[in-house]
Amino acid sequence: MTLEISISVNEMEQIKEKIFEKMGLDLSYYKSTFLERRINVRMKLLNVSSGSEYAELLNYEPDEITSLYDSLSINVTKFYRDKYVWKIFESKVIPKLLELKKPSDTLRIWSSGCASGEEPYSLAIMFSEALLSTNCKFRILANDINTKAIQKAQKGIYSHEILKNLEPHLITKYFEKLRNDQFQIDQKIKDLVTFNVGDLITFPTSYLDVVFCRNLLIYYTKDAQDLIFKKFFKVLKESRFLVLGMDESLLSNPIARSFTPIYPREKIYHKTRS
Ligand SMILES: C[S@@+](CC[C@H](N)C(=O)[O-])C[C@H]1O[C@@H](n2cnc3c(N)ncnc32)[C@H](O)[C@@H]1O
Repeated sequence: MTLEISISVNEMEQIKEKIFEKMGLDLSYYKSTFLERRINVRMKLLNVSSGSEYAELLNYEPDEITSLYDSLSINVTKFYRDKYVWKIFESKVIPKLLELKKPSDTLRIWSSGCASGEEPYSLAIMFSEALLSTNCKFRILANDINTKAIQKAQKGIYSHEILKNLEPHLITKYFEKLRNDQFQIDQKIKDLVTFNVGDLITFPTSYLDVVFCRNLLIYYTKDAQDLIFKKFFKVLKESRFLVLGMDESLLSNPIARSFTPIYPREKIYHKTRS
């Protein structure tokens, strides 16, 4: 077991300042244990043995600020991650969305912290399939703080391994097979998704029918989670839906009174009160 190198409050403040100055990201939203672990990974890679040396290094190695920023972003994802969540969403929630919408409405879905695009493209495929026999339109908005992840998402090329939760007929229908076991997402699906680089806390959007925010709130402090849930409450239309990751919940947050866990196991919530 390798020991963690401790970082003092003062050193951590200097590191946070550098990241905020250059990248505009407020690290005080992150749990300190998570930040320390990520900084430690960078320090070990660079053979830096103290917090003060690392904080100092950020002054003359501006590229390290970007590397640390990138390392804060855990991009693990896949198509239809946690398959049963998607099954319930498609069979139970999409019919409710159709009941709630006015004939002229376009459904607006936000994939917040979309990593390399697997989640928003899964949403685009699921809604395309579910709305096939209707004339209902929809748009997917997707954002991530990680520029490289968004660039990969915009390319839309994935390995077969990442697609393994997809039914084979959906792979045939929505992907083109390239060489080396790579698959390119169909242009029609790409056109349904708008990607942006940006922090979900400041991301400008409103009048949403669905927010997917999965597998990133675990890294945030409870105060930051509160802020984020308030944002979701504000941007969602009345009676619409929020979907969290399997290890996330809003039960212990004050805003919980304003959402009902309609499918608690799948972490699907319904906005109940304004
Ligand atoms: C583990 S991935 C989850 C991807 C996808 N939502 C899923 O569940 O498969 C978390 C993503 O959230 C992004 N992220 C973390 N904090 C963010 C923030 N404040 N705003 C936007 N994206 C963020 C990370 O860059 C990373 O790509």
